[in-house]
Amino acid sequence: MSLFRLDASIRVEGSQSRALGDVVEAEWTAAHPDAEIVRRHVGTDPIPATAWAAAVNGSYLPEADRSSEQTSAIDLARTEVDRLVAADALLFAVPLYNYGVSQHFKTWADLVITDPRMASGVTPATAGTPAVLATVQGGNYSAGTPREGWDHATDWMRRILEDVWQLDLRVVKREFTLVGVAPGMEQFTDVAAELREAAETQAREHGASLGRMHAAV
Ligand SMILES: Cc1cc2nc3c(=O)[nH]c(=O)nc-3n(C[C@H](O)[C@H](O)[C@H](O)COP(=O)(O)O)c2cc1C
Repeated sequence: MSLFRLDASIRVEGSQSRALGDVVEAEWTAAHPDAEIVRRHVGTDPIPATAWAAAVNGSYLPEADRSSEQTSAIDLARTEVDRLVAADALLFAVPLYNYGVSQHFKTWADLVITDPRMASGVTPATAGTPAVLATVQGGNYSAGTPREGWDHATDWMRRILEDVWQLDLRVVKREFTLVGVAPGMEQFTDVAAELREAAETQAREHGASLGRMHAAV
């Protein structure tokens, strides 16, 4: 029994995505106290930006004709996918940056997709694996807010995790993490506290759900 956990925050201290991921992880651990947890910190230990192109271009060539960089990139993709495939459950803790997907998460996901087991159009090796995406954002782009629709990350991550990799996915999102941190957001103090509590409750439920699923397998 094992959990693969990926964190994409560029910081460790004070990271709210890590904190939300910790809530999910605690429930998993409560259900599986002896389970192995494999951790991947792509925000602080990123995939090189050149790896994706090297893996794609190398994949068009016979093995003997690949450069060492292409071979290394393909090997790296295989290693990343091996970790995913080996896990019984997956947890992704990913913040919103610049209205879009964390570059570190996207670089990692792009590389994973180069592996033949995870490419678009095949039944992926992860099909049916239970997973949680815990995502956070400093602002709030939900329905009815002035910048509704400016979160261009969550739908993309859902598309990859749920549709391309066919994970059995649950998503928890916490908005307004910058309230109390960034100036000018004081009027949102109460709503931010409510959103935090709601997100943590949902994270607990999702974590417990992951734990139950595997108890039943
Ligand atoms: C460089 C940078 C860009 C950010 N861009 C956005 C953004 O576009 N929208 C938003 O709501 N929050 C944005 N944030 C705020 C983060 O989403 C927020 O601080 C979140 O809590 C970061 O995750 P972490 O706490 O796990 O580090 C940004 C933060 C940083 C550092």
